[in-house]
Amino acid sequence: MKKVVVLTGAGISAESGLSTFRDAGGLWEGHNVYEVASPAGWAKNPSLVLDFYNQRRRQLLEAKPNAAHVALAELGEHFRLNIITQNVDDLHERGGAKNVLHLHGELLKARSTRYPHLVYDWREDIHIGDTCEKGSQLRPHIVWFGEQVHLMERAVQLTIEADIFIVVGTSLNVYPAASLIDYVGFHKPKYIVDPILPEGTDVANLHFIQKRATEGVPMLVEELILHAKMAA
Ligand code: APR
Repeated sequence: MKKVVVLTGAGISAESGLSTFRDAGGLWEGHNVYEVASPAGWAKNPSLVLDFYNQRRRQLLEAKPNAAHVALAELGEHFRLNIITQNVDDLHERGGAKNVLHLHGELLKARSTRYPHLVYDWREDIHIGDTCEKGSQLRPHIVWFGEQVHLMERAVQLTIEADIFIVVGTSLNVYPAASLIDYVGFHKPKYIVDPILPEGTDVANLHFIQKRATEGVPMLVEELILHAKMAA
């Protein structure tokens, strides 16, 4: 079985009703990134940060996976599939996907500020005063701007080994995730599904599918499965 790696961003969850960050009306238009998503913002005003993520978590619990999430899960039945997502939602998992690497953390988890290995499943709001078992304040289990992306090494390894690389719904504005495409083998096919071609994608063997995720991903998945069956 061929190895497929899919890198996803906020665009794949847009049609599930979750806002992207940099599109018109996106989250960063209404919020100061460094106030709500950086260690400095957390130090300055933790309540504001908690409110921001509490709102995101409530929205997520109302959202449902869409046809793109479901199609990727189906792809996993025909290929050795790894999904590397920048999204903190759980829509890939709820859509049925198995191997999902959350580069930027997970909204439905909370972790201790002092003991980062203490991570808890968390579906409620996080309040000031909610603590880990050792008494430290809990924070969202999210990688903020300026923090290390601990899963990057694993993501690079998976990408280097990929036979096919697919990018869905990310502006490729945020590093190190945006650099992953540069690790894909020169001759390996690369696909991008997005209404807008992200910058910095001047790579060999690139197929740009200029469509929304719910249309472009099921189409691509169908085509790849068909090819795999013909080659078998
Ligand atoms: N289908 C597919 N793609 C879409 C759709 C859709 N329906 N709607 C929007 N898009 C595309 C946009 O064209 C854009 O390329 O999704 C992308 C969204 O880009 P961003 O808002 O920058 O989101 P993302 O790339 O995931 O951001 C990366 O930045 O703020 C941080 O940590 C946050 O993980 C996030 C990271």
